[in-house]
Amino acid sequence: MIKKLKRIAKQLLAIPAVRKSYETANRGVLAVAGSSRLGATLYSLPGFVTFNREQFAVLSGRRTYYENLRRSRTSHVELRRNVHRLEKGILMRPRRDAFARDYILETVEFYRTAVSRRPQDPVLDASEIQWAHDVLAEYFEIITVPDPVVDRARALFVSLAHTPTDGTVKPYEHGSITPSGVTYDQLLALSHQRRSVRWFLDKPVDRDLIDKALAVGRQSPSACNRLPYEYLVFDDPEMVKKVGAIPFGSAGYSHQIPTLIVVKGRLDSYFSPRDRHVIYIDAALASMGFMYALETLGLSSSVINWPDFEPLERTMSKTLGLAPHERIIMLMAVGYADPTGMVAYSQKKDLDVLRRFNPLDS
Ligand SMILES: Cc1cc2nc3c(=O)[nH]c(=O)nc-3n(C[C@H](O)[C@H](O)[C@H](O)COP(=O)(O)O)c2cc1C
Repeated sequence: MIKKLKRIAKQLLAIPAVRKSYETANRGVLAVAGSSRLGATLYSLPGFVTFNREQFAVLSGRRTYYENLRRSRTSHVELRRNVHRLEKGILMRPRRDAFARDYILETVEFYRTAVSRRPQDPVLDASEIQWAHDVLAEYFEIITVPDPVVDRARALFVSLAHTPTDGTVKPYEHGSITPSGVTYDQLLALSHQRRSVRWFLDKPVDRDLIDKALAVGRQSPSACNRLPYEYLVFDDPEMVKKVGAIPFGSAGYSHQIPTLIVVKGRLDSYFSPRDRHVIYIDAALASMGFMYALETLGLSSSVINWPDFEPLERTMSKTLGLAPHERIIMLMAVGYADPTGMVAYSQKKDLDVLRRFNPLDS
């Protein structure tokens, strides 16, 4: 139905007079709506349905965040955030005698929730717990000044049963990193090799290769190291066709995509609405690393746009069984490029257009 309406709209817009009237009307409305915040507020009233989905997603995410605090989960986002803060405190120059006083007890309590599990609870991310353990242990070793809050947290930490670790998952000196050996020229060549590929060979993609590429993607920066995204990988041909047909941007080529990935952001990673854009930033950074890694494995990819468009949102949400706080960020086609398939030249902007040094107003 939506696709039919879109086709009709396209046909209408191909008529110059219709396009001109449409543009004139748009320009008129936006001249008012886009001139002030009051105008924008008035404009958003009739557009409420679209904006409301995102608003609801943010609020539902915050609500779920608080509900989850004492729940046993695979990954504990609030623990991740606080352990990240501890690591920053540990590496700070100069390091303070006693830091994290305002959240150390809470962090150990989160840690306790994470490790105190019942048999029916979801399988824990062991790497996360080791990271939390080793950083907390390092913190309590470093903080030697007597402090009632820290001492209480330390006593709680010591009282917990810990899984054995080698104690190495904690801040370390940059000088101990072994250089990768990747040169600028190699990376530049890889960036030119990657093109948005839409035509693929009829050849399945090994799941191990997807995992290998994701192992690169997840190394990307992420606000407070939360990694607030999930990669839903479809390689069942029927499912790929079903999900791949939903977005507009895959029209005409979705039928021959070997593996389709839906990148989903989780707004239950945040207690504050100020962080509502971070799922998009973090997932985009991870996806870029993922796509470069695919190239090194002989695979190609193309991002497929996910517009914030209510009818498509509804279909996708129903198809994937999404919770209200789960937002689709993008889709990605992955496969072996058909060497006879064309790729767009896609000229990039000149550096002098993209970049300005020290661009202060005054
Ligand atoms: C957010 C985003 C959305 C995109 N949406 C689509 C899409 O819906 N369909 C498509 O065929 N390509 C899509 N692309 C691919 C772009 O068209 C492509 O990246 C751009 O033209 C530059 O070409 P290149 O990737 O080969 O450098 C998208 C890319 C991004 C980053």
